[in-house]
Amino acid sequence: MTDAGRVVISVEDLHKGFDGHEVLRGVSVEIRRGECVAIVGRSGAGKTVLLELLIGALTPDRGRILVPHPDRPDGPLVDMAQLDEEELDRVRAQTAVVFQQDALYSTTVHENIALALRETLRLPEPEIERRVREALAEVGLPPSPAMLKTRRDELSGGMRKRVAIARALALRPRAIAYDDPTAGLDPSRAGAIHELIWKAHQSLGAPGSRQTTLVITHDKDLLRRFEPRVVMLEEGRVFFDGPWSQFKASDSPNIRPYFDLTP
Ligand SMILES: Nc1ncnc2c1ncn2[C@@H]1O[C@H](COP(=O)(O)OP(=O)(O)OP(=O)(O)O)[C@@H](O)[C@H]1O
Ligand SMILES: [Mg+2]
Repeated sequence: MTDAGRVVISVEDLHKGFDGHEVLRGVSVEIRRGECVAIVGRSGAGKTVLLELLIGALTPDRGRILVPHPDRPDGPLVDMAQLDEEELDRVRAQTAVVFQQDALYSTTVHENIALALRETLRLPEPEIERRVREALAEVGLPPSPAMLKTRRDELSGGMRKRVAIARALALRPRAIAYDDPTAGLDPSRAGAIHELIWKAHQSLGAPGSRQTTLVITHDKDLLRRFEPRVVMLEEGRVFFDGPWSQFKASDSPNIRPYFDLTP
């Protein structure tokens, strides 16, 4: 039996503000296992804030986020606010994030991928070595000694993005969230990143289910390629939530200006 389609993240009436400015004003959304969901909205709409709330890097002012308990991933969802720091770390390992600025540590490629495997998942060293090499190969980088020793500052933007994706894949997470993964890349490099994200999405995230994928993006080519469910934030709320085909066909004056969807 598969449990594809089970709700794995439930966001209920989320509010978050900074210094009196309310960024999220009641966001509710449910993400199901195996879905590919694009989160769109103009710059400053609160997409990254929503992601940071989802991984417990920020705490909500109001509302709740329900996730599987790290010890009982197939049991009932639990309120993240009830989890302790150690449990939250393991929730974060289950929902790996490829951050907007890559957020690689200023160490080597090897250390970047190995750190969470060692400190959060506490895997034995041979397993860590295996996963580091596998993850690099999955993102099309040679798992050679020279690559493993390369330091962050020696990597190009496209390579940093690949290492950040490899770091997420090595966790073998149940879900991966990418924050603006193709920003600043030329179309051919962006296309290669689309391929990686799509390949990872097709891989198994849980028995009988595809990986659950969240992509925050402004990239129309990515949306056309993935045809995801689209969740659009506007004025701190979910303005649109539905299939790409409906999003594309919308003549809403709020949607048309942000995405040039004329064929
Ligand atoms: N830690 C913080 N402290 C204060 N304000 C913040 C903080 N994080 C985000 N903000 C504010 O929240 C608003 C939403 O920011 P957010 O980064 O979520 O936008 P975004 O939708 O991801 O935009 P972009 O597409 O440009 O990445 C912005 O006005 C931002 O300045
Ligand atoms: Mg952002």
